[in-house]
Amino acid sequence: MRVTAVYPGTFDPMTVGHIDVARRASRMFDDVIVAVAASTSKSPFFSLEERVDMATTILEELENVTVQSFGGLLVDYAAEVGSKVIVRGLRAISDFEYEVQIAGVNRHLDPEIETVFIAASQEYTFLSSSIVREIARMHGDVSEFVHPVVIESFSRRHHRALHEGNA
Ligand code: COA
Repeated sequence: MRVTAVYPGTFDPMTVGHIDVARRASRMFDDVIVAVAASTSKSPFFSLEERVDMATTILEELENVTVQSFGGLLVDYAAEVGSKVIVRGLRAISDFEYEVQIAGVNRHLDPEIETVFIAASQEYTFLSSSIVREIARMHGDVSEFVHPVVIESFSRRHHRALHEGNA
Protein backbone atom coordinates (compact mmCIF):
# COMPACT_ATOMS: atom_id res chain seq x y z
CA MET A 1 0.00 0.00 0.00
CA ARG A 2 1.40 3.39 -0.95
CA VAL A 3 1.64 5.92 1.86
CA THR A 4 0.95 9.53 1.02
CA ALA A 5 1.95 12.21 3.50
CA VAL A 6 0.69 15.77 3.58
CA TYR A 7 3.15 18.51 4.54
CA PRO A 8 1.01 21.58 5.28
CA GLY A 9 2.04 25.16 5.90
CA THR A 10 1.49 28.74 4.85
CA PHE A 11 4.87 28.84 3.06
CA ASP A 12 4.86 32.63 2.88
CA PRO A 13 7.41 32.12 1.40
CA MET A 14 8.94 28.64 1.41
CA THR A 15 12.43 28.75 2.99
CA VAL A 16 15.42 26.40 2.91
CA GLY A 17 14.13 25.02 6.21
CA HIS A 18 10.87 23.95 4.57
CA ILE A 19 12.75 22.53 1.56
CA ASP A 20 14.86 20.42 3.92
CA VAL A 21 11.73 18.99 5.61
CA ALA A 22 10.04 18.32 2.24
CA ARG A 23 13.17 16.59 0.93
CA ARG A 24 13.45 14.36 3.99
CA ALA A 25 9.73 13.54 3.88
CA SER A 26 10.12 12.56 0.22
CA ARG A 27 12.61 9.87 1.30
CA MET A 28 10.28 8.53 3.99
CA PHE A 29 6.97 8.30 2.12
CA ASP A 30 5.86 7.07 -1.30
CA ASP A 31 4.22 10.37 -2.10
CA VAL A 32 4.29 13.76 -0.42
CA ILE A 33 1.79 16.53 -1.01
CA VAL A 34 3.01 19.94 0.06
CA ALA A 35 -0.28 21.57 0.99
CA VAL A 36 -0.21 25.36 0.86
CA ALA A 37 -2.84 26.76 3.22
CA ALA A 38 -4.97 29.69 2.15
CA SER A 39 -4.36 30.88 5.77
CA THR A 40 -6.53 33.95 5.42
CA SER A 41 -6.25 34.60 9.18
CA LYS A 42 -2.48 35.10 8.73
CA SER A 43 -3.02 37.65 5.90
CA PRO A 44 -0.15 36.24 3.83
CA PHE A 45 2.20 38.61 2.00
CA PHE A 46 2.22 36.44 -1.15
CA SER A 47 -1.04 35.34 -2.77
CA LEU A 48 -2.04 31.70 -2.60
CA GLU A 49 -1.28 31.35 -6.31
CA GLU A 50 2.19 32.89 -5.89
CA ARG A 51 2.98 30.60 -2.93
CA VAL A 52 1.87 27.51 -4.83
CA ASP A 53 3.77 28.53 -7.99
CA MET A 54 6.97 29.24 -6.04
CA ALA A 55 6.78 25.95 -4.11
CA THR A 56 6.10 24.02 -7.34
CA THR A 57 9.21 25.47 -8.98
CA ILE A 58 11.35 25.02 -5.86
CA LEU A 59 10.43 21.36 -5.39
CA GLU A 60 10.22 20.31 -9.03
CA GLU A 61 13.26 18.01 -8.82
CA LEU A 62 11.62 15.89 -6.09
CA GLU A 63 9.73 13.39 -8.19
CA ASN A 64 7.30 12.09 -5.57
CA VAL A 65 6.42 15.57 -4.26
CA THR A 66 3.49 17.61 -5.57
CA VAL A 67 2.20 20.98 -4.46
CA GLN A 68 -1.47 21.81 -3.95
CA SER A 69 -3.46 24.47 -2.15
CA PHE A 70 -6.15 23.91 0.43
CA GLY A 71 -8.68 25.85 2.46
CA GLY A 72 -10.76 24.71 5.42
CA LEU A 73 -9.70 22.03 7.85
CA LEU A 74 -6.47 20.17 7.24
CA VAL A 75 -7.96 16.82 8.28
CA ASP A 76 -10.73 17.23 5.68
CA TYR A 77 -8.16 17.99 3.03
CA ALA A 78 -6.05 14.97 4.08
CA ALA A 79 -9.14 12.73 3.81
CA GLU A 80 -9.90 14.19 0.36
CA VAL A 81 -6.44 13.22 -0.93
CA GLY A 82 -6.48 9.84 0.85
CA SER A 83 -3.73 10.61 3.37
CA LYS A 84 -3.58 9.74 7.06
CA VAL A 85 -0.14 11.22 7.69
CA ILE A 86 0.65 14.85 8.40
CA VAL A 87 4.29 15.92 8.37
CA ARG A 88 5.49 18.90 10.39
CA GLY A 89 9.02 20.21 10.87
CA LEU A 90 10.36 20.91 14.36
CA ARG A 91 13.05 23.58 14.50
CA ALA A 92 13.52 23.91 18.23
CA ILE A 93 11.94 22.94 21.51
CA SER A 94 9.92 26.17 21.27
CA ASP A 95 8.00 24.70 18.30
CA PHE A 96 7.15 21.58 20.27
CA GLU A 97 4.32 22.83 22.49
CA TYR A 98 2.43 24.45 19.62
CA GLU A 99 2.95 21.51 17.29
CA VAL A 100 1.83 18.94 19.86
CA GLN A 101 -1.29 21.01 20.48
CA ILE A 102 -2.12 21.15 16.74
CA ALA A 103 -1.40 17.42 16.38
CA GLY A 104 -3.80 16.79 19.28
CA VAL A 105 -6.53 18.91 17.67
CA ASN A 106 -6.10 17.11 14.37
CA ARG A 107 -6.19 13.68 16.02
CA HIS A 108 -9.30 14.73 17.92
CA LEU A 109 -10.95 15.80 14.65
CA ASP A 110 -9.87 12.60 12.88
CA PRO A 111 -8.58 9.77 15.14
CA GLU A 112 -6.97 8.03 12.16
CA ILE A 113 -4.60 10.91 11.47
CA GLU A 114 -0.99 10.57 12.61
CA THR A 115 1.38 13.53 12.77
CA VAL A 116 5.02 12.78 12.06
CA PHE A 117 7.61 15.33 13.20
CA ILE A 118 10.82 15.77 11.28
CA ALA A 119 13.67 17.55 13.03
CA ALA A 120 14.58 20.50 10.84
CA SER A 121 18.20 21.12 9.99
CA GLN A 122 20.20 22.54 12.94
CA GLU A 123 21.74 25.21 10.73
CA TYR A 124 18.55 27.18 10.32
CA THR A 125 16.70 26.79 13.62
CA PHE A 126 16.30 30.59 13.78
CA LEU A 127 14.69 30.81 10.36
CA SER A 128 11.04 31.58 9.68
CA SER A 129 9.09 33.00 6.79
CA SER A 130 8.41 36.24 8.66
CA ILE A 131 12.14 36.72 9.31
CA VAL A 132 12.80 36.31 5.58
CA ARG A 133 10.01 38.80 4.76
CA GLU A 134 11.41 41.30 7.27
CA ILE A 135 14.95 41.11 5.84
CA ALA A 136 13.64 41.36 2.26
CA ARG A 137 11.49 44.36 3.18
CA MET A 138 14.63 46.15 4.41
CA HIS A 139 16.40 45.15 1.17
CA GLY A 140 18.71 42.74 2.99
CA ASP A 141 20.20 39.65 1.38
CA VAL A 142 18.00 36.58 1.76
CA SER A 143 19.76 34.45 -0.85
CA GLU A 144 21.06 32.04 1.80
CA PHE A 145 17.54 31.40 3.08
CA VAL A 146 15.37 31.04 -0.01
CA HIS A 147 15.41 29.69 -3.56
CA PRO A 148 16.13 32.28 -6.33
CA VAL A 149 12.48 32.12 -7.46
CA VAL A 150 11.47 33.68 -4.13
CA ILE A 151 13.99 36.49 -4.58
CA GLU A 152 12.46 37.18 -8.02
CA SER A 153 9.01 37.33 -6.44
CA PHE A 154 10.22 39.80 -3.81
CA SER A 155 11.82 41.94 -6.56
CA ARG A 156 8.61 41.91 -8.58
CA ARG A 157 6.66 43.03 -5.53
CA HIS A 158 9.20 45.75 -4.79
CA HIS A 159 9.07 47.11 -8.35
CA ARG A 160 5.28 47.06 -8.29
CA ALA A 161 5.30 48.97 -4.99
CA LEU A 162 7.73 51.53 -6.45
CA HIS A 163 5.42 52.08 -9.43
CA GLU A 164 2.47 52.51 -7.14
CA GLY A 165 4.49 54.85 -4.90
CA ASN A 166 4.29 52.62 -1.81
CA ALA A 167 7.94 51.58 -1.42
N1 COA B 1 12.08 26.08 8.47
C1 COA B 1 11.81 27.39 8.50
N2 COA B 1 10.68 27.91 8.99
C2 COA B 1 9.77 27.06 9.46
C3 COA B 1 9.96 25.68 9.45
C4 COA B 1 11.18 25.20 8.93
N3 COA B 1 11.46 23.90 8.89
N4 COA B 1 8.89 25.10 9.99
C5 COA B 1 8.05 26.08 10.32
N5 COA B 1 8.58 27.27 10.00
C6 COA B 1 8.01 28.59 10.24
C7 COA B 1 7.14 29.09 9.14
O1 COA B 1 7.90 29.79 8.20
C8 COA B 1 6.20 30.00 9.87
O2 COA B 1 6.81 31.23 10.07
P1 COA B 1 6.01 32.59 10.22
O3 COA B 1 4.95 32.37 11.26
O4 COA B 1 7.09 33.51 10.61
O5 COA B 1 5.40 32.92 8.90
C9 COA B 1 6.04 29.30 11.20
O6 COA B 1 7.17 28.51 11.37
C10 COA B 1 4.90 28.35 11.26
O7 COA B 1 4.28 28.33 10.06
P2 COA B 1 4.02 27.13 9.07
O8 COA B 1 4.92 26.00 9.22
O9 COA B 1 3.84 27.73 7.71
O10 COA B 1 2.74 26.66 9.58
P3 COA B 1 1.57 27.56 9.87
O11 COA B 1 1.53 27.61 11.34
O12 COA B 1 1.52 28.84 9.15
O13 COA B 1 0.49 26.66 9.20
C11 COA B 1 -1.27 25.13 9.19
C12 COA B 1 -0.23 25.87 9.98
C13 COA B 1 -1.62 25.79 7.88
C14 COA B 1 -0.73 23.76 8.93
C15 COA B 1 -2.47 25.09 10.14
O14 COA B 1 -2.83 26.41 10.46
C16 COA B 1 -3.65 24.39 9.52
O15 COA B 1 -3.68 23.21 9.46
N6 COA B 1 -4.62 25.20 9.07
C17 COA B 1 -5.85 24.66 8.47
C18 COA B 1 -7.01 24.84 9.42
C19 COA B 1 -7.08 23.72 10.39
O16 COA B 1 -7.16 22.56 10.06
N7 COA B 1 -7.09 24.07 11.70
C20 COA B 1 -7.17 23.07 12.73
C21 COA B 1 -5.80 22.74 13.28
S1 COA B 1 -5.25 24.14 14.22
